[in-house]
Amino acid sequence: MANNKAQIKLTPVGKLTPDEAAQELARLAAAITQADEAYYARDKPEISDAEYDALRRRNLLVEKRFPKLKRDDSPSDKVGAAPSARFEKAKHAVAMLSLDNAFGDEEVADFDQRVRRFLGLGGDASPAYTAEPKIDGLSLNLRYEKGVLTGAATRGDGEIGENVTSNVLTIADIPQRLNNAPEVLEVRGEVYMSHADFEALNKRLASEGEDVFANPRNAAAGSLRQLDAAITASRPLRFFAYAWGEISEDIAATQWDAIQVFKKLGFRINPLTKRCDDVAGLIAQYRKIEEQRATLGYDIDGVVYKVDRLDYQARLGFVSRHPRWAIAHKFPAEKAMTMLEDIEIQVGRTGKLTPVARLKPVTVGGVVVSNATLHNADEIERKDIRIGDTVVVQRAGDVIPQIVEVVKDKRKKGARKFKFPDRCPVCGSHAVNEKNPQTGKPDIDRRCTGGLICAAQAVERLKHFVARNAFDIEGLGEKQIAAFFAQGIIKEPADIFTLQRRQEQGEIDLYAYKMKKDGAPQLDRDGAKQPTNKKSVENLFAGIDARRKISSARLINALGIRHIGETNARLFAGHYGDFAGFYEAALKARDESSPAYEDLLSIDGVGALVAQGAIDFFDEDHNREAVDRLLEEVKPQKAETVAATGAVAGKTVVFTGKLELFTRDEAKARAQTLGAKVAGSISAKTDYLVAGPGAGSKLKKAEELGVKVLTEEEWLALANA
Ligand code: IVH
Repeated sequence: MANNKAQIKLTPVGKLTPDEAAQELARLAAAITQADEAYYARDKPEISDAEYDALRRRNLLVEKRFPKLKRDDSPSDKVGAAPSARFEKAKHAVAMLSLDNAFGDEEVADFDQRVRRFLGLGGDASPAYTAEPKIDGLSLNLRYEKGVLTGAATRGDGEIGENVTSNVLTIADIPQRLNNAPEVLEVRGEVYMSHADFEALNKRLASEGEDVFANPRNAAAGSLRQLDAAITASRPLRFFAYAWGEISEDIAATQWDAIQVFKKLGFRINPLTKRCDDVAGLIAQYRKIEEQRATLGYDIDGVVYKVDRLDYQARLGFVSRHPRWAIAHKFPAEKAMTMLEDIEIQVGRTGKLTPVARLKPVTVGGVVVSNATLHNADEIERKDIRIGDTVVVQRAGDVIPQIVEVVKDKRKKGARKFKFPDRCPVCGSHAVNEKNPQTGKPDIDRRCTGGLICAAQAVERLKHFVARNAFDIEGLGEKQIAAFFAQGIIKEPADIFTLQRRQEQGEIDLYAYKMKKDGAPQLDRDGAKQPTNKKSVENLFAGIDARRKISSARLINALGIRHIGETNARLFAGHYGDFAGFYEAALKARDESSPAYEDLLSIDGVGALVAQGAIDFFDEDHNREAVDRLLEEVKPQKAETVAATGAVAGKTVVFTGKLELFTRDEAKARAQTLGAKVAGSISAKTDYLVAGPGAGSKLKKAEELGVKVLTEEEWLALANA
């Protein structure tokens, strides 16, 4: 089309006068509408995808420069979510998982061993793998339906991300239409910013008097998560495709071929991706990528290995949040030298006293570090760390920086030893090293005995309660919790859910605080001088109400029970069906001779320590009371079983003896995918014992208890029924 060919001679956006800009926006709106009609209504595109993308990008850039001229019928509002006060949530059709890490060649060999063992591959039958750089950006899910980009979402907590569709439309690397794609295709990959673009962006921000970004990753995240898509458009983001989510038909039989399909569809794939025959090949590619790291022009933090055959990937499946078929081989942590100015004690959620090093700020791998964890008293002693020492700090990925060693040559006379306190610095209670019930030895960590009276523990528990993998309440993060706690407005979880009622009854006055007006209410300590933003308070109430229905696993995790984190919380929710089931079972299990106790321990993955954590928690009156008050406000949902139907769904099965048709790991994983619960020992609740040759005591016990015993073949027939 003639008017699009003319684009080459267009005036640069920076040189447009307001009049020209208004005309340009009108022209672009018309051209985009026309292109949309041709594409959607008549199925006859008149311009190429690249031309179409360019129109949209130019439109956004003009809008960014002249926000007041933005048209009511602006094309940038038409696709995806209308820009609202905050991003809409987007539930992923297939969860977005993270990768397990390997540090060092040996752990890579272990990974390969695990894969082979799981698949039952013998001696020299090595599966092929792919190796590719691990891009240090943020992952993104792109959904295409009938070849049209219909949605884009960040990873979020893996289950639910943020809908960033309108922003993604501004990224040149991301095609908005695909030819010959399956009906539904979700392409996943990494959004990142190159070093050159990052430097240029920071330079511009600095010259405009704005805050600069600490590193390209933050810059990419900050740019993608802009509420104003025009800002995203003005910040160059790039994208590498490396994985997929929902897909309506198979596109390949191997990882390698799938990535080649992406390339054909118009995505950028990383040129350093290689197919390797075995571990030696993976390590060779790792070294090659490591050598090139400094000159790539973008940040990578390791190399990702994936089992190549997709049927193997399917069999390997997942362990909690990681695929068994992939691993990230991380580069060694970056290091720097600085001065240890002081050591302070932080009191955590469980009362643990953690010494924290206050450092003279130093840049480590592009990030300014001023704190490092010292873990415990032992660590300080062992490394002979003294205040005033010159120390080597290291930082790997998102892990908290650590002190590797003291540079003894540089020790000054005034360097002084740190005396680890025997009282809690927050509440003054005694701090002790408890005896470990299993080993009988004193614990390495020192803990505050203040329990409920310790403000530090209480506030940390509340922060944990609202954390991303727990209640994840929009507008109620760590800062707000700390401020509300300090004001005595929120003392325990239930208080969060009574805020609105208390506000309406005049017991508290949230309007007296200034809430930041960007949609995420933030308490501002000296806010009284500022006008109150009523809308923010209402948004907060809405965010809280949205979480009154909560998954049982999140609720269990949110309580912060000793030894029970995200993974165990899921195990419990799955095993007991919902929160109430777990609560009741933990109460009954106080009697160690009860079937409830036996059942609790029979859960695969639950040991004595975890079981004790659950029992002890519910044994405390004040915990039960706090939970009961919370349950008046929130409704825990039934746990989703992986497969709710099928002959073995919901049944408890134990495997014993030598299995011949599949490895133990695979049998277990497969049973779980079918919705069965795999237990480690026989109890009255066991439905089936699958016994291979050489089964011993478990078989005997099953017979005594009248548990149905199956051969492997019988189990398979039943499971596949
Ligand atoms: S594969 C099921 N490949 O690393 C696993 N991830 O810790 C799918 N990442 O959230 C991920 N480069 O953001 C994969 N070449 C790559 C990657 C990569 C970076 C990120 C991704 C993911 C995180 C996992």
